[in-house]
Amino acid sequence: MKMIFRLLLILIISALTFSCAEKKIQSNSEEKADSLLALMTLREKIGQLTLYTSDWDVTGPTMRKGYQNDIKNGDVGAIFNAIGSAYTRQLQELAVENTRLKIPLLFGYDVIHGHRTIFPIPLAESCSWDLELMQRSARIAAEEATAEGLHWTFAPMVDIARDPRWGRVMEGAGEDTYLGSQIAAARVKGFQGENLNDINTMLACVKHFAAYGAAQAGRDYHTVDMSDRVLRETYLPPYKAALDAGAATVMTSFNEIHGEPASGSQYLLTDILRKEWGFDGFVVTDYTSIMEMLYHGVVADTTAAAALAINAGVDMDMQAGFFQDKLEQLVKEGKVSEARINEAAKRILKLKFDLGLFDDPYKYCDTAREKAVVMNEKFLIEAKENAKRSIVLLKNQDKVLPINKNIKTLAVVGPMAHARKDLIGSWSAAGDWKKAVTLLEGIQQTVSPSTKVLYAKGSPLMADSTQYFADAIAKAKQAEAIVLAVGEASWMSGEAASRTNIQLPLIQKKLMEEILKLNKPTVLIVMNGRPLDLSFEDKHFKAILETWFLGTQAGPAIAEVLFGDYNPSGKLTMTFPRSLGQVPIYYSMKNTGRPYESDPNNKYVSKYIDESNYPLYPFGHGLSYTSFSYTKPFLDKTVISPKDTLTVTCTITNIGDRPGEEIVQLYLRDLVGSVTRPIKELKGFKKVNLAVGESKVVSFKVTVEDLKFYTKEMKFSYEPGDFEVFVGGDSNTQNKILFSLKTD
Ligand code: GLC
Repeated sequence: MKMIFRLLLILIISALTFSCAEKKIQSNSEEKADSLLALMTLREKIGQLTLYTSDWDVTGPTMRKGYQNDIKNGDVGAIFNAIGSAYTRQLQELAVENTRLKIPLLFGYDVIHGHRTIFPIPLAESCSWDLELMQRSARIAAEEATAEGLHWTFAPMVDIARDPRWGRVMEGAGEDTYLGSQIAAARVKGFQGENLNDINTMLACVKHFAAYGAAQAGRDYHTVDMSDRVLRETYLPPYKAALDAGAATVMTSFNEIHGEPASGSQYLLTDILRKEWGFDGFVVTDYTSIMEMLYHGVVADTTAAAALAINAGVDMDMQAGFFQDKLEQLVKEGKVSEARINEAAKRILKLKFDLGLFDDPYKYCDTAREKAVVMNEKFLIEAKENAKRSIVLLKNQDKVLPINKNIKTLAVVGPMAHARKDLIGSWSAAGDWKKAVTLLEGIQQTVSPSTKVLYAKGSPLMADSTQYFADAIAKAKQAEAIVLAVGEASWMSGEAASRTNIQLPLIQKKLMEEILKLNKPTVLIVMNGRPLDLSFEDKHFKAILETWFLGTQAGPAIAEVLFGDYNPSGKLTMTFPRSLGQVPIYYSMKNTGRPYESDPNNKYVSKYIDESNYPLYPFGHGLSYTSFSYTKPFLDKTVISPKDTLTVTCTITNIGDRPGEEIVQLYLRDLVGSVTRPIKELKGFKKVNLAVGESKVVSFKVTVEDLKFYTKEMKFSYEPGDFEVFVGGDSNTQNKILFSLKTD
C-alpha cells in the first residue's frame, strides 16, 4: 500500500513540476522581454512598434527611403519584403551591430500559397476540402521561407467572401464560415508547426481583421457595413479559429466596420480581440492603414491618427511611420501611456525570444540550408498532388473526359494553353514563374509518345485581335479532340483587382465560338482567380474543368486529370453565379417571407423577372469521372437533449466505372429560431475514397454546439425546436431527415 502511495506522490510531483516547467518555458520569453524592456529608452521601445518595407518587393502604395538608417538608429523593429539569407543577414547586421541593445529585426513577407515552390491559390486549394493537404502546403511554405531568412508570414488570409467582383477572393477559402474556420486553423498550424523556436517554423498572421471580404459592391477597400450579428456569426469565426490554433499575430484590415476604420477600432482590437478572445500576440496594421484614417475622416492629423491606433490596440505600424514620428510626443503629452507602449513592445519582443532570435539573430540566414531546401523535388511533387486535388470538374456531359492518352492527334488551343507567368497567380511571393510548367508542357509530358500534340495560341488574353484564329482553327480541324484553355490574367485578381464584369474577355468568347463550330469533342479549361459567369460556356461546352491558378506544377496536375490518371475530386467553396446580377449569392441564404419555392408561378415571390434564383454551380459542387449514390441519412435518435450527441450516418456507394473520391457534406437547417436562420449551414464534411461498387458508411456527430447562433438577445446559444439534417455531394442536396432538440 505504502509503495502505491509513494508512486502516486512521485507521479503528482513530477506532473506538477513538468507543468510548471511548461509554464516556465512559456513565461521564459516573457520574463526575458520584461528584463530587456526595463533597459530600453522610450524611443527604442517605439522602434519595436515600427515595420517598414524594404525595396526588394512592392506590395503597397508607398516606399520608405532610408529604411537602412532607421534600422541603424534603432527606429525599426521589423522589415518586410526582404528575403534571402544574404540580404536578411545584411539588414540584420545593421540592427544587431549598430544599435545599443542589439535587438534583432523580425523579417515578414506575404508567403500566401508557397514561397518559392508555389501551390494553388488559396481559393483553389480550399476546393480540395483536405485540411491535412492545406496544413502541409503551409508547412512547406514555412520550410522554404525560413530557409530564406524569414520569420513571419502575413497569412493566412481568412476573410469570408461572397462577392466575386472582389479580387482578393483568390486569397481566402471562399464563402463558408464553418469550412473557412477549419481551413484557417489548418494553415496556421502549417506555418507555426509545434514550436516557434524550430528553424523551420514561422509566425502566422491572421488577416484582415475584420470582415475585409464584405466590401460593398466587391470594390476593394470599400465600406463594410453589417449588423453585429452578421459580423459575429459569419465573419469573425475564422479569425477566432486561427487564434485558437495559436496564430501569433493579427493584421488589421483597411476597411471600416461599425463606422470605424479597423486600425482605430477599440471594439475590434481590444474589446473583442483581447477582452473576449484573450489574444496575447501582437496586432500589426495593414499597409499605411494608420495614415489612411485621415482619408476615412476619423482623425484630423497624423498625431491624432497615431494616438487613435495605439490606444485602440494596434501594436505595430506597417509603413505609415506615424508611431515613429508621433508616439514619443504623445507619451510626453500624456495622451498615450508609456504602459501602453511597454505592452505593445513586450508582445513583439516576446515573439522574437520565442523564435530564438536573441540566441542567434542569424539562425535563419543559412545559405547552405537555403540551397538544400528551396524548390526541392519532394516539394514539387507535393505541389502537383495539391494542385490535382484543387481542380473542380464542373461539367462532363457524354463522358467527354477523360481523354484517351493514346489519342492520335490532340489540339491544345487558347491564351492559357501555354501561359506560364499567370499560373502562379496573384500573391505568389518569391515564386519564380519561369519554373512553372504550362498546360501544354504538362500534356506533352503525359500523352503517349505516338500522340501528335498541335498547339495554337488562338487569341490574346484580352486584346481584340483575331490574328491567331486561323492557325488555331486549322490545327483544331486536324485533331480528334480539342483542349481549349481560357481564363483571366493573374493580375485580374488579387489586391486592388476588383471587376464589374466577371465574364471571360470578349475575344476569348469569339475564339470559343469559332472552335465550337468545328463540332469536335472539346474540353474547356478555365484558369481564373475568382468565380466567373460561365453561363455561355456551360450552355455550349460538354466538359468544363475549373483549374484556377494551380502554381508551379499546374501543367502536370491538369494533364493527370485530363487523361484520367487522377479522378478529379474538388468541390467549389464559393458559389458561381449565373450572372453578376444575382450577386451576392451564396448557399446559406435566408428563406425570406416570400420564398420562390413556396409558389414558383406566383408573381409575388422573391425572384427575378430576367434570371433564375439559383447559381450556375452551387457551393460544394464538383463532379467525378465516376458517380456516387447516397442513402437517406439515418439518425441514431430523432430527439436530443442539450447534452446528447446525435449520430448521423449515410452510406455512399461508387456506382460508376472507376475508383473515386467524394467529399460528403453535412448541412443543418434550424426550422424556427428567435431570429431568421439560413436555409442550410455546413456543419461537417468527410472525404471518402471508393473503389468501383464499394460502399462506405459515413458518420457525423452533431451536438448542441452545432446548433448555436446569436439569438434575438444576441446570446450565442441554442434554442429548442426542429432541425433538418442534409447529407449530400453539394449544397443543393435535398437528401434530408428531421430531428428535434428538446430543452425541457
Ligand atoms: C497589402 C495587403 C496585405 C499584405 C500587406 C503587406 O496591402 O493588404 O494583405 O500582407 O500589404 O504586403
